[in-house]
Amino acid sequence: TIKSRRFPEGFLWGGAIAANQAEGAYREGGKGLSTADILPVGPDRFKIASDPSIVLDTLEGVYYPSHEAIDFYHRYREDIALFAEMGFKCFRTSIAWTRIFPNGDEETPNEEGLKFYDDLFDELLKYNIQPVVTISHYEMPLGLVKNYGGWRDRRLIDFYVRYAKTLFERYKDKVKYWMTFNEINVMAHVPFIGGGIILKEGENRNQVVYQAIHHQFVASALAVKACHEIIPDAKIGCMIAGIPTYPYSCHPNDVFEAMQRDRISLFFGDVQARGYYPSYIKRFFKENNVNIEMLPGDEEILRAHTVDYIGFSYYMSLVVSTASENAEKASGNIFGGVKNPYLKSSDWGWQIDPKGLRYLLNQFYDRYQKPLFIVENGLGAVDVVEEGDVINDDYRIQYLRDHIIEMAEAIEDGVDLIGYTTWGPIDLVSASTGEMKKRYGFIYVDKDNEGNGTLRRIKKKSFNWYKKVIESNGEEL
Ligand code: BG6
Repeated sequence: TIKSRRFPEGFLWGGAIAANQAEGAYREGGKGLSTADILPVGPDRFKIASDPSIVLDTLEGVYYPSHEAIDFYHRYREDIALFAEMGFKCFRTSIAWTRIFPNGDEETPNEEGLKFYDDLFDELLKYNIQPVVTISHYEMPLGLVKNYGGWRDRRLIDFYVRYAKTLFERYKDKVKYWMTFNEINVMAHVPFIGGGIILKEGENRNQVVYQAIHHQFVASALAVKACHEIIPDAKIGCMIAGIPTYPYSCHPNDVFEAMQRDRISLFFGDVQARGYYPSYIKRFFKENNVNIEMLPGDEEILRAHTVDYIGFSYYMSLVVSTASENAEKASGNIFGGVKNPYLKSSDWGWQIDPKGLRYLLNQFYDRYQKPLFIVENGLGAVDVVEEGDVINDDYRIQYLRDHIIEMAEAIEDGVDLIGYTTWGPIDLVSASTGEMKKRYGFIYVDKDNEGNGTLRRIKKKSFNWYKKVIESNGEEL
């Protein structure tokens, strides 16, 4: 164990949200409809979204949580003041592509959308909070899905790069930390969320999905290039859903399977951080009849413009078994897997594993030798408001404390970790279920799953706890 939990000077403590889960105002300021705006509430929302029969529009009488969300669009000043009170050094949010290019394929950006983020970043900088910006977080213009089939179409690269360059030019003096695609590896599991892909009957799923992924890789590398040219002192990273896989037993088959499953995600970091398609994926492509169409120059682009840092989310680990007739399935995560008998789960079935964070930090650092940034971590839980607006979320404090201790251990292991932003420092709409009930915040938002509530903000017990953590640079946990 470590003697002192010293985090490096200038460590970026903060919180992270995404536009579609917080802003609301889904039709204001010239915003177009996004893929997130047509997702209802419910555990099946990801599945519904991938169904060939999905209606690419909003329907009468259906409640869509992104439309108002927590109304961050109108209340960000009040919310940022609370983040500043906690002492945030940085704040991660995403830009809604549809505020800048409402349909995605316009020639010129929407000034009102650009102005909104100018004001938002100014508000953060007023408190010395560094904005950390995700260019695309689980949403894209619905127009690009309807008219191009999402990221299946290579033309998406140009639209994305135009969008990214517009952001770099506009915010070059305000934003120095960027990420290209949120949890890019989710494309392999839920291609509608990651890339607006709706699979047609009888299609080779892997062919469609990995071709779309290739387009995103090229788009991401070109964004890295543009960012370096336009903002030489900025850092731009990838963003991966970090879910380490453990073997259920020491049977060599389980051990090998765990490695293979890890590679489904590591593949993304391998391309974005090392700059080329790793050899193991070639066998996978061969065996699954995947033929990636590349244009001359694509491989050079990937190789020349790798990311500066690895951003990743971490909530849980995963267990795989090759002989799991009896193993209980772990629920709640889109990556599947069996239940780990040594771990407890959250109310939503996500297996809580602080040590897994240290494992993952070491795995990434061994593999990439680039700075790491934990841009999401937290516990989605049911909170109870007690008399006098008291919310005793000790379980959340416990979860975060345990993870921060493992971060300190990893730093001691030699990992170059530059920051930590907890997911949803203020309660927001859940990505996987659309619920408000699944809360992550230090700040409670009065709103329920059906959309009722005053939207009033209330500090939870964890608010002052996190404030102390930041004040003491991770010494006081
Ligand atoms: C990550 C996403 O997968 O996990 C976030 O980047 C998401 O958008 C977060 O909100 C937590 O997941 P959920 O489903 O509990 O909101």
